Amino acid sequence: MMINSLVKKSVKSLIPYRVEECQDAIKLDANENNNVAYLLNQKIAKALMELKVNQYPDSDCCRLRGQLGRELGLSPQQLLMGCGSDQLISLVINSFVGEGDKVLTLTPTFGMYKLSTQIAGGATVEVPLGEDFTFDFYSFMKALRRESPKVIFLTTPNNPTGGIIPREQLIKIIEYANAIVVVDEAYYEFCGETVIDLVNYYPNLVVLRTLSKGYGLAGARVGYAAGGRGIMGILYKVKPPYNVSSISQLAAQVCLDNRGFIEAEIQEVIKEREKLRTALEAMGMKVYKSYGNFLLCRLDKAKEMYNYLLENKVLVRYFGEEGPLAGCLRITIGTKEENQLVLKLLQEILDVTTEVAV
Ligand SMILES: Cc1ncc(COP(=O)(O)O)c(C=O)c1O
Repeated sequence: MMINSLVKKSVKSLIPYRVEECQDAIKLDANENNNVAYLLNQKIAKALMELKVNQYPDSDCCRLRGQLGRELGLSPQQLLMGCGSDQLISLVINSFVGEGDKVLTLTPTFGMYKLSTQIAGGATVEVPLGEDFTFDFYSFMKALRRESPKVIFLTTPNNPTGGIIPREQLIKIIEYANAIVVVDEAYYEFCGETVIDLVNYYPNLVVLRTLSKGYGLAGARVGYAAGGRGIMGILYKVKPPYNVSSISQLAAQVCLDNRGFIEAEIQEVIKEREKLRTALEAMGMKVYKSYGNFLLCRLDKAKEMYNYLLENKVLVRYFGEEGPLAGCLRITIGTKEENQLVLKLLQEILDVTTEVAV
């Protein structure tokens, strides 16, 4: 049987999301938090001893939502937990986007908005960021008027560029748009600016957060969406039952219970980010202002640098030679030792290439 003839049109032309694998490398390519693993592993392992894995998990993550709700000043009905915020992105799209509907977002930005939109049969309209990858409010509003999208995705801080969108501009977009506005705050913990309080006032607003970044829990796949009761009621209709495993719920609980420790480590990452930025700039690289746990830099010979780091078992993100990110590397802020190693390796390869040029 020709299964290809059965595949739906939107899936046929799909390019799968590619993840670089390098087993024993220091991972600085996916904006994980390498600083918290040592404590979390121990605490999660201990808590697992009590877990009844023979039972299905709490389907709606009531305990987690209760705790998060108290911390955020929201009711549990205003929160929905997902298997990573990736699942929440596709939940929003599957709830609101059908064949031919438009989704408005930025470029460059996180790739999953476009991928999930394509699977749903929708069309993504991308508004380029402005100079130095800053948010171009004027162009965005123009596109919003022109395109009449069903859903808007705005990422602040943005991945992979690191910039933020001012709150006043977000409010103007939310107020103007006859669309669902998703503000993805995956890197909120490194920046501190949020619009989550606004979900009480704007029924078309959804804020996404994740425990994968600041909280160092990417392996457990836990994210959450916050919104008004109306929109949450719609998302709950589409959410699969038991979508967050009991092991992941427990790991998330351990994270929330160890907030103090994790928050101190987040402050360390921010300090390290600024140290690394200064050092990279001193090497002559262009480094974009970042409010996340990563730095996007533009440099000559980005591919050579990437390969040299990889040969030395350090994996960073390279974006190829085409498009607005050509010649850029995104480096996740690691532990102090990892960051020092990156600097040492980059200096080595710079010295070699400079000597050859001379
Ligand atoms: C902006 C943004 N949103 C969402 C995600 C997905 O995170 P999660 O691990 O919660 O699925 C990422 C991951 O890189 C991201 O950068």
